[in-house]
Amino acid sequence: MAEHRKFHFSTLEQLRDEIARLGADISLSDDLTVLARPVAAGRLYAPNAFAVLPMEGCDCLQDGSPSELTRRRYLRLFGGGAGLIWWEACAVVPEGRANPRQMMLTEGNLRSFTELVRDAKREAALQNSPGHRPVSILQLTHSGRYSRPNSHRPEPIIPQNDPILDPLSGVTENTPLAADEYLASLPEKYARSAVLAREAGFDGVDIKSCHRYLFSELLASHTREGIYGGSFENRTRLLLDTVRAVREAVGDDFMIACRFNVFDAHPYPYGFGSAKDDPWTFDPGEPMRLVQLLRRENVQLLSNSAGNPYYIYPQVTRPFDTSSLGIPVPREDPLESVARLFAFTAAVQQAAPDIPVVGNGYSWLRQFLPYAGAANLKNGKCGFVGLGRSSFAYPQAPRDILSGRGMKEGNCCVTCSKCTQIMRDHGKTGCVVRDSEVYAPLYRCARESAEERERSAEL
Ligand SMILES: Cc1cc2nc3c(=O)[nH]c(=O)nc-3n(C[C@H](O)[C@H](O)[C@H](O)COP(=O)(O)O)c2cc1C
Ligand code: SF4
Repeated sequence: MAEHRKFHFSTLEQLRDEIARLGADISLSDDLTVLARPVAAGRLYAPNAFAVLPMEGCDCLQDGSPSELTRRRYLRLFGGGAGLIWWEACAVVPEGRANPRQMMLTEGNLRSFTELVRDAKREAALQNSPGHRPVSILQLTHSGRYSRPNSHRPEPIIPQNDPILDPLSGVTENTPLAADEYLASLPEKYARSAVLAREAGFDGVDIKSCHRYLFSELLASHTREGIYGGSFENRTRLLLDTVRAVREAVGDDFMIACRFNVFDAHPYPYGFGSAKDDPWTFDPGEPMRLVQLLRRENVQLLSNSAGNPYYIYPQVTRPFDTSSLGIPVPREDPLESVARLFAFTAAVQQAAPDIPVVGNGYSWLRQFLPYAGAANLKNGKCGFVGLGRSSFAYPQAPRDILSGRGMKEGNCCVTCSKCTQIMRDHGKTGCVVRDSEVYAPLYRCARESAEERERSAEL
């Protein structure tokens, strides 16, 4: 592990030299043409190999429908030229919302989603070319341990106790474990949401199983008793039951995707994908078995993620220059964090060569990300180049790259973690640096409210 260093490269050569110095497994290719190739996903074709990763804005209306701010975000994303738009976390049940403004699709607000999907598709064609039609996937979620549906107060729904995470997520000795009956009721809820998503015009849904939300934590529920805990078969049961229930409800023409944590960086018996004797050593055994099970269930699009963005090692999920408040400086170079994420994507892609895998970890590379994306695509290490914070900061980056103009350095995400800080402060989020007219005031407002809450808690 090397020392943490901020991004300091002016040329591709400097970046190449640093990668070599660190011995990081990151390749860069000067030939970017592969980024422009259409990508087949199930029966769908994405017009190019860029994907927008799911990025919550925490800005929906109380009933879960898109607000003007949500609408603005998606019109910008669709106009930006990516071939695949993976919409943010959308709750399947009210008690599983991560915040009172989390997206939630219901019979009551279906129309507002239908209108937004329609308008977003129009915007994609208008800003790019008349035939440009990105694939649109809605991420369905239950926030589990991180549920906070009503106010600033956590209302965790946990599959197992975790001595490290419990004190940090509002779990007390009075918090019950989610009952088997409750968990068994969820596949039907996902199926209902998927049917609504199809009606709204989405091309598919993702059964979100990453970042320690409910389905992610279930994968790691070694200590839970009963049919959803303990053995690998039990820990994957709810995810697979849900995939089957969704398939049954939507038929074969609708895409089912899965974004799952390949590696939790969390100790046994509370983590998934980590070696039993070392949480920082990746054990591909179970994650790769899961890939094969998902494949067997006709899941047609995958995305790997890793880590727990709520815990003290968020660099495992998103390599950064500056952390959000209270997070220690990582004991590794961000290029090592980027290489780790690339390696996970490559492992999943090699285990499922017939399914495109959306990679992540690119934003830290700023204007040089296309070169890494092109190399990964060429080497069969991903099916899509996924952009998270970069999409907040610079939604039109795919268009600039694919048109040959290249990314403008001054528009790139600087991985400052301010968008994360807004989330932590319970505000509405977006890029504070590159979209500052809208989000700098929202950042300040969320910070002040959080400080006020901290002061009142101390009294
Ligand atoms: C503000 C914010 C919101 C996010 N929301 C989601 C989400 O809704 N669903 C999800 O799977 N990941 C979410 N992520 C994680 C990103 O999709 C992505 O995995 C991560 O930022 C790493 O990619 P990047 O380096 O391109 O940013 C979020 C990340 C941030 C910073
Ligand atoms: S606030 Fe903007 S620049 Fe900072 S990490 Fe988020 S997207 Fe990147």
